[in-house]
Amino acid sequence: MEQLIKAAEIFVKERFKEEVTGHDWLHMERVRRQSSLIWEKEKIGDPLYVDLVALLHDVDDRKLAYVDHALTLKDWLVMMDVQQDLISKLLTDTSNISFRKGNHSLLSPEALIVQDADRLDALGATGISRAFAYGAKNGQMICKEGDFTEQNQNGGTDSTVAHFYDKLLLLKDRMNTKTGREMAEQRHRFMRSFLCQFEKEWKE
Ligand code: ADP
Ligand code: NI
Repeated sequence: MEQLIKAAEIFVKERFKEEVTGHDWLHMERVRRQSSLIWEKEKIGDPLYVDLVALLHDVDDRKLAYVDHALTLKDWLVMMDVQQDLISKLLTDTSNISFRKGNHSLLSPEALIVQDADRLDALGATGISRAFAYGAKNGQMICKEGDFTEQNQNGGTDSTVAHFYDKLLLLKDRMNTKTGREMAEQRHRFMRSFLCQFEKEWKE
């Protein structure tokens, strides 16, 4: 597994080096590090497998445009001669981590840890930066009239501020592990205070 992790580092670093919507190599590194921190406290499952899922979790993400002509995760795992049962497990885990599309009940204990780390990276100062980078790249407005409220949301995010109420402010109550929940709390508070200041400035 150590060798596969080394190879995954090289593969993912190359693949995401120019990504500009917050899914760059540094996102994968942060998710890996936060996953390790959570694993250290929770001690659930195999820490090497946690590393592997963290590194590979966004490889097949279809909204990352350049993926169309790139290797799929399955192609890469086959190329690396990975055993079939590990391939199946990795594909199930990585394809179900996503907030929107994922089926939570299919995740392994290790992937539940990585899902928490991925969510932590959507929160706090990091999450705020990533949201605005993603919004800009996807032609989304910063804010529209009436966006600073939960009441206004119906699942159809069309500005970045709306995305906070639509998704990001909900994440702290959806963490899988006790450690993840505790880590999310502080980032959530920071995001709330950012939105409060932002709204004040936009209305003064
Ligand atoms: P998941 O992998 O859980 O489905 P995404 O890949 O959609 O999550 O989101 C990853 C990052 O992209 C997060 O930081 C999130 O805030 C940002 N993002 C996704 N959709 C939007 C959006 N419509 N506006 C702003 N940021 C977004
Ligand atoms: Ni991610």
